Amino acid sequence: MEYDNDDNTWRRPSTPKVEHSKCNSIPKRSTTLAVVVLGLAVLSCLLGYCVLSETLPYESKTLRVVVILFRHGARTPTSTYKSDPFKNYQWPDGLGSLTNAGKLQLYELGKKYRSYYANFIPEEYYDKDVYVRSSDKSRCMMSAYTFLAGLYPPTERQMWHPEILWQPIPVHSLPRHLDNIVAGTKPCKEFKAMYQEHLAEKDADPKFSDLFDYLSKYTNQTMRSILEVDFLYSTLQTEQEAGLKIPDWTKNVFPNKMRMPFMLSLALLSYNETLQRLHIGSLLGEVKDSFDEIATHTNLDSQRSLYIYSGHDVTVVALWRALGYNELLEPEYGASIVLELHEDVEQSNFFVKAFYRNNTKVEVPMELKLPFCEDPCMYDQFKQHLTKLIPVDWEAECKNV
Ligand SMILES: *[C@@H]1O[C@H](CO)[C@@H](O)[C@H](O)[C@H]1NC(C)=O
Ligand SMILES: *[C@@H]1O[C@H](CO)[C@@H](O)[C@H](O)[C@H]1NC(C)=O
Ligand SMILES: *[C@@H]1O[C@H](CO)[C@@H](O)[C@H](O)[C@H]1NC(C)=O
Repeated sequence: MEYDNDDNTWRRPSTPKVEHSKCNSIPKRSTTLAVVVLGLAVLSCLLGYCVLSETLPYESKTLRVVVILFRHGARTPTSTYKSDPFKNYQWPDGLGSLTNAGKLQLYELGKKYRSYYANFIPEEYYDKDVYVRSSDKSRCMMSAYTFLAGLYPPTERQMWHPEILWQPIPVHSLPRHLDNIVAGTKPCKEFKAMYQEHLAEKDADPKFSDLFDYLSKYTNQTMRSILEVDFLYSTLQTEQEAGLKIPDWTKNVFPNKMRMPFMLSLALLSYNETLQRLHIGSLLGEVKDSFDEIATHTNLDSQRSLYIYSGHDVTVVALWRALGYNELLEPEYGASIVLELHEDVEQSNFFVKAFYRNNTKVEVPMELKLPFCEDPCMYDQFKQHLTKLIPVDWEAECKNV
């Protein structure tokens, strides 16, 4: 989980360790590379199997709206633990920040969606076509920006600087104390009480007590909650990714024994339908509204075709669970869920497709069979399911007043 740094408990390192390079060269679109890739694809087809290259565009005559929700890219740890040998490690960009690898991951993901939806998303960015909403965390905002750099490189007409193959595209966000759409950090009394209830129940589960004992002993701090396991798991993972040698005692429990309680902790924020309603219901409401605009032909002026949400692991998990999946999930960096609204013109009706891409390397998103729906999933049925999870009056349901 990633609700870190709200109290500003750490500072920027006083002595920046990296020298900033004079010029950050922006990757150029390489025709040579494209030719080589195409050549390789043809060659492998000749050799008997066709490689699904990322340039394969998705063919669909029925597609009308696309919603993409992703987790930010690779980041530095958000917290440390008592016996952490890297407690005082100076992360050049500070704790909880997007790394260069993370920037690249989302840029690559944007490029993948660019080629995947080449027949749907116009090459030229147009303000009225797309709306981007991000969690206000810097790493999510930055991930959204590099994703957009990959998705919408400026066309010739849009070049505004001879050396910069990038154009500004707005990313909208609400301050954290007001965000009940993406980050789900706007205070909600009822949600908090219900979440605490589930957390207490899981923490008391005897199957975790050996793990809690072991972790308490070696971290030199109290570890009696799956939420604490969650934070520790992320810290160990990010330190390891950064090439730091994590202590030997971790080998017995990380990642294997810690993974289940970690994933369970991510899932608790959207554990049942009431929690989903209060945590991600407003986002589902936006999805329903944007699909409705097309499906009911209301508001013909503003018919956007692309909505992008940049969030956290828990955001991906919450949408996953709201779509009716109870399996625990560990979304990797840049994991994305896609919802598509299609129109069957001949039958004059609409249907929905859902996809999951568990990381930014996956070439072709995995289609999800929605458990509450027939196949194809008619929009009316989809909408009925969403409507159950959309709060009518969020503040009142939160019992905030
Ligand atoms: C564990 O904590 C105690 C008391 O806070 C301290 O004296 C001890 O040095 C710590 N041990 C490690 C390995 O950090
Ligand atoms: C979800 O869990 C909370 C806390 O246990 C409970 O009050 C609520 O009724 C549950 N909602 C559903 C739909 O089961
Ligand atoms: C990601 O998904 C692919 C299939 O789409 C699967 O083969 C792979 O094991 C998954 N990776 C992880 C880490 O879950």
